[in-house]
Amino acid sequence: MADRSQSCAGEIDHPPATEVRVAREGDLTAVRDVVNWAIENTHYNFHAEPLGTAHWRAEWAAGHERHPWLVAERAGEVVGVAYAGRLKARRAYDWAVETTVYVSHLHHRRGVGRVLYGVLLPILEAQGFHTAIGVIALPNPGSVALHERCGFVAAGELPRIGWKRDRWWGVGHWQKMLQHETHVPEEPLSVAAALRRLDLEEPA
Ligand SMILES: CC(C)(COP(=O)(O)OP(=O)(O)OC[C@H]1O[C@@H](n2cnc3c(N)ncnc32)[C@H](O)[C@@H]1OP(=O)(O)O)[C@@H](O)C(=O)NCCC(=O)NCCS
Repeated sequence: MADRSQSCAGEIDHPPATEVRVAREGDLTAVRDVVNWAIENTHYNFHAEPLGTAHWRAEWAAGHERHPWLVAERAGEVVGVAYAGRLKARRAYDWAVETTVYVSHLHHRRGVGRVLYGVLLPILEAQGFHTAIGVIALPNPGSVALHERCGFVAAGELPRIGWKRDRWWGVGHWQKMLQHETHVPEEPLSVAAALRRLDLEEPA
């Protein structure tokens, strides 16, 4: 079992309420817009050009049954996304996931990222994944704070590996163990099976 004392749980006192639910295909234009803002205005995402909805549709379609994709809504508007994906496509990595979270720049520091990870990480744990990795282009104080708040620990930096906005950026890895060290893995459960196990709602 993961160390629950190192979870993202906690009071959220920034109304309106943040609702987290499983992402649907119709959410992907909002996801595109949230991430494109970061692509166009920051070094946090290493894409050089904005991504189209087709990119997100392909990623979501290929991944969402094996790895959770969640969105956060505030007052009926999708303002954030969190999802997991394969770390590497080799058998021994089957129990490791890379986790990603983006929150609209208009809604930062209101607990949205924490609420998203607060749902995503227990789903991954229930699926039987062993470890989650956040890959963070540095510096990024918001992402580092979110990951450490949710129990991830620094696990090494690759300096100067990305060129964007006319300079080199390093990338740090933050790791959270989701199971005991001695856990002998079975095949990870599907997202749907984990949602049932957690008594969470499946998408309509
Ligand atoms: C990183 C990101 C997802 C954080 O989401 P958020 O909704 O703003 O974060 P939260 O409000 O849930 O904050 C989580 C914790 O981090 C802290 N934090 C958030 N932004 C911070 C910042 N810029 N500086 C310092 N601490 C920060 C909060 O105080 C909070 O800690 P607390 O619960 O102990 O008070 C958001 O800033 C973002 O989308 N950034 C751009 C994209 C990005 O970098 N994504 C991550 C890629 S790895």
